[in-house]
This record gives sequence, structure tokens and C-alpha cells, in this order.
Amino acid sequence: MKIKLAKSYGFCFGVKRAIKIAENSKGAVTYGELIHNPLEIKRLKEECGVGLAKELSEIETKKVIIRTHGITKSDKQFLIENGKELIDATCPFVTKPQQIVEKMSGEGYDIVIFGDEKHPEVMGVRSYSLNPDRTFVVLSVDELQKLKLRERVAVVAQTTRKVTHFLEIAQKLVEKYKEVRVFNTICNATFENQTAVEVLAKEADVMIIVGGKNSSNTKQLYLISKRFCKDSYLVEDKDELKSDWFKGKNLCGVSAGASTPEWLIRNIIEKIQQIKEDNDE
Ligand code: F3S
Repeated sequence: MKIKLAKSYGFCFGVKRAIKIAENSKGAVTYGELIHNPLEIKRLKEECGVGLAKELSEIETKKVIIRTHGITKSDKQFLIENGKELIDATCPFVTKPQQIVEKMSGEGYDIVIFGDEKHPEVMGVRSYSLNPDRTFVVLSVDELQKLKLRERVAVVAQTTRKVTHFLEIAQKLVEKYKEVRVFNTICNATFENQTAVEVLAKEADVMIIVGGKNSSNTKQLYLISKRFCKDSYLVEDKDELKSDWFKGKNLCGVSAGASTPEWLIRNIIEKIQQIKEDNDE
């Protein structure tokens, strides 16, 4: 069995940047998980002394790192008012839809955000609207059809959404409303990893996707992979790998979500290699 990595996988620019910021911020805490990967968060705690506060009330340090997905405007305000020193690790690709929503809502546009309303990034982006009553989060065309929007609409997307789905949303809006401003805020890193996983899943007979199970972009990679290779598995750590998955297989493809560290991917590949050798004996 051969093991092959996807052409593009793993850490994106925004996560690399956030980790570097955290590594240089000893003694700080991140408000919310810096990135969606429990093992990397553990490493930052152990090696760099960067803690995690899940609630605002848990923050005891002066320095607070804002996670890659950003936070809500009111949380930011609260931290500033409480004398915290903010270290902003928000990915610039997340800051962009925040700014668009603020500007376009200020200009009187109804806002549509294509994404998951419970995702921290979307909650953050939504909070920047100057007109919350005219700001809507939708996850499907069906949800969109139920909305009664005014004539002028601006639409943005959660950075990790699929381009094809965003196009469907944009198309429906354009068909129905007079003035529609479409801002493609989907991040290229996600797109590149998605294209690469599709190419690899088509040729592989088993696929391992490495990443946090709470990471939206890792889950999306897994779903794409599953579509083209039915034996696709999503794992967070090497202990989850099962030798049965690899029996009788010729090509094992490996990809990883945008917040999966390189050391973890290497560990997984080593373990697959070991399983392969055991299976061959
Ligand atoms: Fe930023 Fe894109 Fe990564 S939004 S955090 S560069 S997946």
C-alpha cells in the first residue's frame, strides 16, 4: 500500500500566523479556542504557557489573544473596558467580512451571511452589523427563500463554505432582488485543500482526513473525500486508526484540515506506515 499526501493540506496562512502570535505571547490566554485543534491547544499551553479561557468571566490575565475566527464586537468592547491588552490573531480573511458587514449595513443594505449561525466566526461577523434586525444568517437556499428582504442586499460567506453552495445562494438573490452586492469571502486555503482532497480521493481506496472533529473545514474535507472514496475516515489522533481500514488497500490518501499541525500529520503517517508493515507480515 502506498501512502500519498494531498497536494494541498493542513495549516493555512491564518492559522500559521495565529500560532506564531501565540508562541510570542507567553502568559496570555486565548478567549475561545485559538484554532479548532485540541492537541495544538494543549501544546501551546505546555510549551508556550498560553492558556485558554472559554468564558469572558474566566479571564484572569491582562493579555488576551483574540482567536483566528474572531470574536463579537461586544465581547471585544467588554475586554477593552476591563483594561485587557488585546493581541489580535483574527485571520485577515475573517476581518474582511466583519468590515464588509459593518460598512454595507451602515449603507442601508440588508445583510445575508451564508454560514452556520452557531459558528464563532459567523457570530463574530454578524455582530459587526449596524442593523441587526436586517441581518440574516442562512445555511441553505431553502432558508434563504423564507426571508423577506428589501431591495438592496449584500451577501458574504463564512470563510470555510463551499464556493458552489455560495454561488447558489448568490444566484437566488440576484434572481429575486434589485440590487445585490456579492462579496466572495470564502478563503482560498479552504478551496485549495478541498480541490486537492477531491483529486486524491478519486484515486485512493482509503482516505484519512486528520483534524479536529469540531473543525468545520476538516469536516467538509471529510465529506468531500467520502463522496469520492467510501472508505474515508476522520481522525484526531493516531490512536483512532484501525488496522482493518487498510487491509487489501493499494493507495492510502492523507489530507488534513486547515488547523491541523504538521507534527500531528507526520505522527499519523508514521502510524499508517507501521500498520501497513504489520498487515504485510
Ligand atoms: Fe484564515 Fe482561511 Fe485559514 S480564513 S484561518 S486562512 S482557512
